[in-house]
Amino acid sequence: MDVGDLLNAEESNARVAAIARMALFQSRLRDGCPNYFSALDRALEDEPPPFGTKTYSDLYRSASSDARWMAVSLMTNAEREGDGAKRLWSLSACSSNKEEQQLLKAHAVDESRHALFYLALLDLAFPEITEPSFRLELQKLSPRYSMRMELFAVDGSPYAKEPSIDDFIQMNIAEIRTTIHHLMQRSALAVHSSVKNRDGIKMILDALLHDELRHVAYTAGLIERLAQSATPPDLLSLFRKRLRDFNEITSEELGNRAFDCSVECCAKRPHCRSKAVPATGFVDTPI
Ligand SMILES: [Fe+2]
Ligand SMILES: [Fe+2]
Repeated sequence: MDVGDLLNAEESNARVAAIARMALFQSRLRDGCPNYFSALDRALEDEPPPFGTKTYSDLYRSASSDARWMAVSLMTNAEREGDGAKRLWSLSACSSNKEEQQLLKAHAVDESRHALFYLALLDLAFPEITEPSFRLELQKLSPRYSMRMELFAVDGSPYAKEPSIDDFIQMNIAEIRTTIHHLMQRSALAVHSSVKNRDGIKMILDALLHDELRHVAYTAGLIERLAQSATPPDLLSLFRKRLRDFNEITSEELGNRAFDCSVECCAKRPHCRSKAVPATGFVDTPI
């Protein structure tokens, strides 16, 4: 299946599973994660995600036809990516496994870069929609991490702790959901962009999609490795539970016509993303 066909898969579960399979295929991990796929596929059957449905993408298409809505959505994405980068940075700093630490660090660097990518998309699709001073402020949404920088745990961050398989499952589901949002954004931006800026927008979108699929794949790889350990976790129960949490969050967001709402919005609504991680005491997913 081509990446462009991913959103055409009719069934909710097929669409979500297709993204996971495409991600692992591109990372040459496809046959290496039997426990991961077995748990994911069964959890999808038990808890079919609304974010994989055609209704969801139809609602997004309708909302995103409004230029102002689309521009704000790009700013919200930049904010979320920057915020996710900081959480991952703390999580990475606290990992005692060197390989996991480097993977999480690279992920934080990616999300930090993505915040700037979303702002570049804003400039290309909606030039002059923001005041220059506000546009300058938006640049601060990215923490601008690089692999050369020293890791540190942010003081008081709930992510300053050793990462667990539960974290990786939440990250994996969140990355699949982000990929679905990304695919919907691709078609939406094609409507808003001028012919002159179309190539620039496509280049950024291709880089984003490549990275998001890589995030799905590496978290699946970490889940699989832990599932094959001497004391394997109950992967299916964890997947079911976290998928149920994400489904609930998605349904609530849809009631507010939001697709991955803003950090401020989540902070105001205690029921929002806190539902995804009650066991760990997190107030949000790591990404
Ligand atoms: Fe991202
Ligand atoms: Fe990501």
